[in-house]
Amino acid sequence: MNILFACSELYPLIKTGGLADVAYNLPLALQRQGHAVRIVLPAYRSLLNNLSHLKAVGQITTTIQGYDVSLLKTNLKNTDIPVYLVHCPALFDRPGGPYGEYSGSGSGWEDNAQRFGLFCRIVTLIGVNRAGLDWQPDLVHCNDWHTGLVPLLLKVYKSRPKSLFTIHNLAYQGLFSKADFTALKLPEIVDNVRLWDFRAVEFYGKMSFIKAGIVFADTVNTVSRGYAQEVLTTKFGCGLHGLLRFIGQRFCGIGNGIDNNLWDPGNDHFIETLYGPSSLHRKIFNKLALQAEFHLPSNHERLLIGVVSRLTDQKGIDLILDALPLIMQQSLDLVVLGSGDKNIEQALLQAVRKYPGRLSVKLIYDERIAHLIIAGADALLIPSRYEPCGLTQMYAQRYGTVPVAHGVGGLADTIIDIPPYSEDIADATGVLFWEHSVNALFEALLRLEFVYGNLLLWRELQRAGMRENFSWDQSAKVYADLYQSLLPELM
Ligand code: ADP
Ligand code: GLC
Repeated sequence: MNILFACSELYPLIKTGGLADVAYNLPLALQRQGHAVRIVLPAYRSLLNNLSHLKAVGQITTTIQGYDVSLLKTNLKNTDIPVYLVHCPALFDRPGGPYGEYSGSGSGWEDNAQRFGLFCRIVTLIGVNRAGLDWQPDLVHCNDWHTGLVPLLLKVYKSRPKSLFTIHNLAYQGLFSKADFTALKLPEIVDNVRLWDFRAVEFYGKMSFIKAGIVFADTVNTVSRGYAQEVLTTKFGCGLHGLLRFIGQRFCGIGNGIDNNLWDPGNDHFIETLYGPSSLHRKIFNKLALQAEFHLPSNHERLLIGVVSRLTDQKGIDLILDALPLIMQQSLDLVVLGSGDKNIEQALLQAVRKYPGRLSVKLIYDERIAHLIIAGADALLIPSRYEPCGLTQMYAQRYGTVPVAHGVGGLADTIIDIPPYSEDIADATGVLFWEHSVNALFEALLRLEFVYGNLLLWRELQRAGMRENFSWDQSAKVYADLYQSLLPELM
């Protein structure tokens, strides 16, 4: 099959979260299975600065939404997979993050409707082979709200590729004003539905990009089975649970995988010492290096817990802060790597002043330190309020680092909870707490400490996690089957 993969982030060019990792690994895994994949994303300034020898390709004859646009081409790192960059200097060549002035949270660029509206139009032109590339995809795989208008715009063409819309996070919806909607000059009626209607893109008086994707795509999925169930409820559905229920069988969950080459304790140039399931004693050197990196006292016995996370409300860092007075009574230390919300950053800095030598924080985005935490910590704490899939819990398991997580979405799907205070841990791979509360988090840590206190049991738990297979090949196969189900003529 020919697949066009449309996304707003792509590892290692531009990344704010797991979407960038998925956008790198899924196309690669699909290619391994014999599919021809091409990727398209906006040509942000930071990305242009890091790439040389960009070639202009194709031809987009008219100005789009009044802007000059061209297509540049590069390849996915270390592969021959084509990556098209939508080059529109007025909209994408500016300092800051892909969605706003700051790459963390905060308000987005004022013209985001125009920016991603234009991006969607170009993706559509490539989709219907009208961008001068002489290439026709069978399916356009759209990701998150930034690509939400693509399924809608494709519907205008009689002969068109199929579309899949993947929801990586339902809370980010791409909501804009009626004026923004009007300025986008979309067709008034698509598929016999008036666009400015609650059955189409209108959402409580606003325009919703994500709704456009859900309503008009041939099929829709999210990134774990657990989250696919959760978003059908008011608690997790972000106002869209009714619509997701309504589309029924057209919606499913497919879990993400991880990059087993990039995340491999036996071959990771970011870490201090390489190790594997039969040399877990060597992991200790990474722990010592991690303590040194975070200026914590060197101590190979004390439980060391790590956090690697965007700092947003979703990630529940406030729960860790609330639990600190209890946690810090235990014999453990905590290192946090994260960036994002300024209030959360400030609160973390304040906590560091309260618990010097026990809690250490780096408020940056740093690949190397992320690897060192995943390798050097004994456990990784993930207290997310909700988690569509989550990748770090899978990295941790591959590194014999025990995940301790809130039992939601992809976290509950990929971690097998230890039976409480038992010497028979069976197939368990981590610790889950089911209530998002200080007490539940604290109790989970007590259960963790129980196992940590018994080296044989601890090794069993570590090795069970290391045996798990989170390879992208499995998920890519499920995606390929889903594409195929929309394209019976290619069977
Ligand atoms: P989300 O996409 O919601 O942030 P995921 O767990 O799916 O959550 O993906 C997060 C990705 O970002 C992982 O690859 C993780 O290692 C990485 N990451 C998050 N924060 C940082 C950071 N401060 N430095 C380096 N990598 C980070
Ligand atoms: C989103 C979600 C995260 C998921 C990632 C990749 O950022 O928050 O849970 O793993 O997308 O699908």
